[in-house]
Amino acid sequence: MATATATTTSILEQVPIGTLKLNGHAKKPVINDDNEHDSGHSTDNDDEVVIVDPYNYVGETFGSGPGENYPFAQFLPHNPDRTESDPVLPHFDIQDRGLKAHPNAARLRAFVEARGGKVKDKLIAIGTVIEGDIKLEDLGEEEKDDLALLVAQRGVVFFRNQHSLTIEAQRDLGRHFGPLHKHATYATPKRGDLDDVVVVYADHNSRPDPFAFTRAELFHSDVTYEVQPPGTTILRLLTTPEVGNDTLWSSGYAVYSSLSRPMQIYLESLTAIHSGFDQAASRTGISKIPRRQPIETVHPVIRVHPVTGLKSVFVNPGFVTRLIGVPKAESELILNFLKDAFAQQTDATVRWSWQSGDVAIWDNRIVNHSATFDAYPSLRHGLRVTPHAETPISVEEYEAQTGQKAKDWLEERHKSLGIKPINRDDGKTKKRAFRD
Ligand SMILES: [Fe+2]
Repeated sequence: MATATATTTSILEQVPIGTLKLNGHAKKPVINDDNEHDSGHSTDNDDEVVIVDPYNYVGETFGSGPGENYPFAQFLPHNPDRTESDPVLPHFDIQDRGLKAHPNAARLRAFVEARGGKVKDKLIAIGTVIEGDIKLEDLGEEEKDDLALLVAQRGVVFFRNQHSLTIEAQRDLGRHFGPLHKHATYATPKRGDLDDVVVVYADHNSRPDPFAFTRAELFHSDVTYEVQPPGTTILRLLTTPEVGNDTLWSSGYAVYSSLSRPMQIYLESLTAIHSGFDQAASRTGISKIPRRQPIETVHPVIRVHPVTGLKSVFVNPGFVTRLIGVPKAESELILNFLKDAFAQQTDATVRWSWQSGDVAIWDNRIVNHSATFDAYPSLRHGLRVTPHAETPISVEEYEAQTGQKAKDWLEERHKSLGIKPINRDDGKTKKRAFRD
């Protein structure tokens, strides 16, 4: 067993504070390398040292978790003890299920209406809630295909009361959309046979420091450093705080539409580096050997969704480190501008206040998302299933492959309403107008 001082120091040196949150609020852990103890425990006495097993822990910091009688104990986060990393992921040949959908998701709508439910948009730009007594596990193949399209069109679709959805059914639904991604570094459920499930978890041992990060930089798209980053992603929350710890999704289609034409053309010509190295570094105190070694990948800055044909800004502050082919100062300026654009577009950002049993299904290709960090010390626990999608397609590639013009979300909306597109501020437009 490592000594208290040595182990604590080594974790703090390896892990950036603010990511693992081993700050002044956390207890000092001693890692038990012998695997003698089942799990760690915490105490209110700051001087007392906590014995933990890093492969059998709960929370971002090593702690006691929700207690013995917790009904979802088998899904608490766990890091299997690895002797070596898995090889890099293979290439997956993926045909998007949305390509088989009815253009108006009519079969899904009929399924919902037949059960007295309703498909209801949350905002104009993003978010749809499916109301009524709808069980995701009852969807047939056609309804699932329509759901893939609806999620691609609306960015994120919500369902309440999915208490009967088992993790097996959630994985089956995910596999309909694509092969399930296995996270390179995150914990998987304690049950042990669910290495394609990500555990989303926070409790009284994972106090965030809200002064350590800006809200804008928390917006991210999941694991975009992968060669084939996820598409139709399914998160179900098992346990939620009474209030707080919401999630927000911001539309990449709408960010694209908000830009000037010269800026759109400029960004369409660029690629960016997406890096998994920071995320891997943030876990070195927990997983000494990650499932996969970190990688960096180059993706187009503007990608086209293969089903909707809409252009979307595909950068996020979580993983994008650099634009390629432009000087560093210009790269930072543009990436910061885009980061703020995602965080500031109140008309294209939808917010969900979770109840236990809720499911959100989002298209990770065309939205960035972020949780709020306001509900500490409440318990929040969920399971995410994350299917791979295609390797991101640039505007040029999409138009060459399909012979079709890639589209701008706002222009399409104006067309559908039969109104003229706006002039993107010709100098004569009226200045701001407040509305309550
Ligand atoms: Fe995420």
